[in-house]
Amino acid sequence: MTSEKKTSNVSGQRRMPATTALAPPIYPATVYACDSPQQAADLLAGNTDGFIYSRDGHPNSDMLAEQCKDWHRAEHAAIAGSGMAALALALLSQLQQADHVVISHQLYGKTLHLFTTEAARLGIESTVVDTCDLSAVRRAMCEETKLVIAETIANPMLQIADIAGLSEIAHAHSARLLIDNTFASPVLCRPLDWGADLVIESMTKIMNGHSDVILGCLCGNDAVWERVPQTASTWGLFASPHSCWLAMRGMATLDLRVKRAASTAKQLAERMAGHPALLETHYPGLNVASDRALAEKQMATNEAGLGFGNMLTFRLAGGQQIAEKFIYALSPSIPFCPSLGDLKTTLSHPESTSHRELTDGQREELGIFAGTIRLSVGIEEPDEIFEHLERGLQAIE
Ligand SMILES: Cc1ncc(COP(=O)(O)O)c(C=O)c1O
Repeated sequence: MTSEKKTSNVSGQRRMPATTALAPPIYPATVYACDSPQQAADLLAGNTDGFIYSRDGHPNSDMLAEQCKDWHRAEHAAIAGSGMAALALALLSQLQQADHVVISHQLYGKTLHLFTTEAARLGIESTVVDTCDLSAVRRAMCEETKLVIAETIANPMLQIADIAGLSEIAHAHSARLLIDNTFASPVLCRPLDWGADLVIESMTKIMNGHSDVILGCLCGNDAVWERVPQTASTWGLFASPHSCWLAMRGMATLDLRVKRAASTAKQLAERMAGHPALLETHYPGLNVASDRALAEKQMATNEAGLGFGNMLTFRLAGGQQIAEKFIYALSPSIPFCPSLGDLKTTLSHPESTSHRELTDGQREELGIFAGTIRLSVGIEEPDEIFEHLERGLQAIE
């Protein structure tokens, strides 16, 4: 904007800025005025670039999608109203009646429900397997299998999916691989680089990082994208301009936050491992972690260098009462929040939150007990977090 275009506001006219705002604007408009019926028709058909109705797209969603695309080196990205909406977008755009999916038994509970119970209502069958066991995945594949689904770092035991191995199996059966990268974020892993066809992030978590936005994104390349925009619009899976704007602000510090939190989590894991009040400590970066080599390979794909994520899971020596005592002792310094990825360190108790719908037997099979605690490490000083944890451990000794 040049200074000649500046008009006085004395007469009530709007003053046009001669400078450019450093922060992006928010576009709350639900609809955009068209010059002509032809322009409207072209916009609605997607033949002309631009906006007409916010459910089909708006500038804030486009700006955020651009960032997600860059992070994942993807040809396309779509922003959806939540991580679950991004998963629903993947399901509805890629699958149809009589298709079959192979899914990890360690998926986030609602994702498991979506691809088993909800998908079954649409005539889509599923087989649930341990996707860390590639021969079990191979056995589960059939002619109708169209999608294999796993998480980069599984919740809460933090096992690492072999994305390249899963992609090879999926592609050998003409199926596609969808990876939920929420626990890693693209700072630590870019699943498309390892052969995944689609990747989702619950941006509610570390992508936004401030616990004030529910949002998701789906990224992929041309080969899988044909039905995505129409599906997002028809099923109404869009995200609000304000949420997108907030997430852009969160994403501006994504790289800094993830590296800092991952480095702290590794230090904490090393200090916690072997503590007498703990039966086990799970962190992909521990030397004893069975899949550390896999984590090193997959999670060193970018400039961040080695990083094993900000999540840390440990098992207290004791049951429900001990877990409660520990949680009370840490509160409010480390709050009990059934989510993750905040600036602040938080903890969760999988048995009573994310995995409460499983039977005791199913939880045990996954390694989840009443004493299992999941820590989402934030960006505080490592010593400060460790002091709080030690106070909790002393309280149960
Ligand atoms: C791994 C993972 N994927 C997806 C989701 C769903 O994301 P949202 O809560 O943004 O719908 C969650 C939520 O906890 C999650 O942990």
